[in-house]
Amino acid sequence: MNILVTGGAGFIGSHTVVELIEAGYSPVIVDNLSNSDPSVLQGLKNILGKDIPFYQEDCNDYVKMNKVVQRHNIEGIIHFAAFKAVGESVAEPLKYYQNNIGSLLNVLNVMQANGIRNLVFSSSCTVYGQADVIPVTENTPKKKAESPYGNTKAIAEDILEDTVKAGLGFGIISLRYFNPVGAHPTAEIGELPIGVPNNLVPYITQTAAGVREKLTVFGNDYDTPDGSNIRDFIHVVDLAKAHVSALNLLQKHTDAPYYNVFNIGTGTGNTVLEVIDTFEKVNHLKLNYEIGPRRPGDVVKIYGDVEKAAMEMNWRAAKTLEESMKDAWRWQKKISNL
Ligand code: UFG
Repeated sequence: MNILVTGGAGFIGSHTVVELIEAGYSPVIVDNLSNSDPSVLQGLKNILGKDIPFYQEDCNDYVKMNKVVQRHNIEGIIHFAAFKAVGESVAEPLKYYQNNIGSLLNVLNVMQANGIRNLVFSSSCTVYGQADVIPVTENTPKKKAESPYGNTKAIAEDILEDTVKAGLGFGIISLRYFNPVGAHPTAEIGELPIGVPNNLVPYITQTAAGVREKLTVFGNDYDTPDGSNIRDFIHVVDLAKAHVSALNLLQKHTDAPYYNVFNIGTGTGNTVLEVIDTFEKVNHLKLNYEIGPRRPGDVVKIYGDVEKAAMEMNWRAAKTLEESMKDAWRWQKKISNL
């Protein structure tokens, strides 16, 4: 089955390409490389032993997307391609709405024109905001998004649900990711932030590698056991496998309109300080870090109830935080030539 992977050169997309091949699917990548590096394609080749069809195109380009879909007889799409920097989205909301919503509409139009039924969409636990009760289930009410980025995910979910409801022949799953971390255990692919990382783990690994001088922990006065924020950190390979499970599930629901959402996390929360501690322990090193002020917009604590994915998709995260921190460091050492 030929699967179009938009954003397939990105962090989660590239790991998903590997899992797709291992599950017997044939991925085709479309990525405009706006936030990724072509070296990812060589990493994929080193893991998989073959080239994956790749097109450097923008998902907002209907004509180009249509061509790729027809040329490869695409039967399903995983749509990762999107801008994802929360802070930047606050400064440049139109850029985010235009790209993230525009490309989704384009993908849906291309699907409809070509009779492609199945789509897996990258959503985020950001749709829950600071939930009143944690762990959050898929029935936890969505809250007004903290950022335009978060809002693009909330709006996208509504668009997808409405589109399926209209009976246009779609089967769609939105996966609400928690915090993806780690890298492929081969260290052939991993996270490649351009410029200063926004996210915790690449900041940790770059600090350990000497690329950054020190890590600032954004607050230790929250209402949590050690005062730092709590997140659900999931190994990116586990997260990638969830996309294969979602595609498999979609194929069991081909006779009626189908829309569903799933939390994709580990079901466990860890504090920022626990992550740092785990990183230091498993990699036998000391990290230069300090406690700084809170970062505006951070939710205090969130982690996911992941039983729905276990029951309905037969998927569960298998890797530990220790493995994530080892793999993240192995990858950083490789790209920093350490
Ligand atoms: N953190 C630090 N120092 C840093 C970077 C992060 O202490 O240098 C802390 C943050 O304050 C937060 C935790 O590490 O408590 C995780 O921060 P990230 O930026 O890695 O991740 P977020 O949970 O803030 O963001 C993630 C995704 C977003 C998504 C959001 C939804 O990256 O795409 O979850 O909650 F919108």
